This record gives sequence, structure tokens and C-alpha cells, in this order.
Amino acid sequence: MKRVFVGMTGASGARYTLALVPVLVGAGIEVAFSMSDSAAKVLRLEEEIVVDAGEPDLEALFGKAAAGVQFFPQDMVEAPVSSGSFAVDASILCPLSMGTLGSIAAGTSANLIERAADVMLKEGRPLVLVPRETPLSLIHLENMVRVARAGAVVLPAAPAFYHHPTSIDDLVRHIVTKITDRLGIRLDLIQRWGER
Ligand SMILES: Cc1cc2nc3c(=O)[nH]c(=O)nc-3n(C[C@H](O)[C@H](O)[C@H](O)COP(=O)(O)O)c2cc1C
Repeated sequence: MKRVFVGMTGASGARYTLALVPVLVGAGIEVAFSMSDSAAKVLRLEEEIVVDAGEPDLEALFGKAAAGVQFFPQDMVEAPVSSGSFAVDASILCPLSMGTLGSIAAGTSANLIERAADVMLKEGRPLVLVPRETPLSLIHLENMVRVARAGAVVLPAAPAFYHHPTSIDDLVRHIVTKITDRLGIRLDLIQRWGER
């Protein structure tokens, strides 16, 4: 894995992205990043971090790891990640809203985040989707089945408790580990089951 696209949408769980990107950069991966307007709203409401979705302060989001992140506005559909010929090894949409999930399932590619997901499916490259919603309607469930059939990994933001989390960060790290595991990047961020 050399270069990965991370798309942040307006589902709850902004801190998953805040944790994920520095971990990827720390693993030596170049991160191409985009966020939706709703993601910026959720970030403000959940984390009290105020950024412009079109031109975010990457250091405010990712600290020193910002140096390893290349930002693309969500309306920049001409960005390199929009093309199957650009070498992105995988895309991760985290957290993923039901709205963007529906667009991916419908193949509409109306913005860069949706297009980056669509490109991975058409090129047969890894697409990890981290949806967050509860309860799920039949439409949400059917959309998940649809994208899974098309080749996406549906990895809900549903942290486990068997590693004895004592903080929210522990729960977040569990999901980050699940994501990086799916990309074949083995990191020791949490106590794994059977490794006590
Ligand atoms: C504080 C807050 C939390 C939200 N949480 C979720 C959520 O967990 N899942 C979801 O699908 N939508 C959630 N939404 C709604 C989405 O942000 C909304 O549907 C938005 O249009 C999604 O747009 P996007 O996919 O372009 O980011 C939330 C909105 C706000 C303001």
C-alpha cells in the first residue's frame, strides 16, 4: 500500500477519521483526503473543531501527520483520484453517511468522494466503507448488500469490547485496526484477542 484515499462524510464519528489518517501516515502511506460539507458540520458539533470543508487546516485535523496528506475539495471531480489510471491503492470512506452510501450503491458519483469509491469498484481495487447509523432501514441494508456485491468491504463503525477498552480512544483504535487490517497493514494499536 503506497497511496490511499480517505473520504470523510457527515456521519457521526469524526474522530475515527482524526485517528485513522495519522495512523496511515505513520505507516508510511501517502493519504489523499477529501471531506464533505456535512463532515465539517459534524466535526464542529462533535469535536468543536472548525474547518472549511473546501480548504481545511490539515494540521488542526491531523497534527504533524498533515505533512503526509494531500487535500482535494469534494467538488474537485477533476482531481487525480477521480481517474482509474491514478495510482491509489485503496479508498476508505470513514465515517460513511447513509446518504453517500446510497449514492455509491446507485453509482451516481456526484462528488469526488463518491467518485473515488466508484473508481475502486470499477477497477477492482479495495474499497473499505465504514458506515455509521442505527437503527438501519431496509434501504440502508439493501444499499450495503449492493455495494458488498460490487466488491466493497462494509465495515460498520461498531467497536467491540473484548479488548477491555477503558477510553473512547480505545474504541476508536479498535475500528482503526479493523480498517488497517483489511488493507493488510498489521499494527499493534490494540490488544488483540488471544494475544494476552
Ligand atoms: C451531528 C450529526 C450527526 C449525524 N450522524 C449521522 C450518522 O451517524 N449517519 C448518517 O448516515 N447521517 C448522519 N448525519 C446526517 C448527514 O450528515 C446528512 O445526511 C448529510 O446530508 C450527509 O452528507 P454527506 O454524505 O455528503 O456527508 C448526521 C448529521 C449531523 C449534523
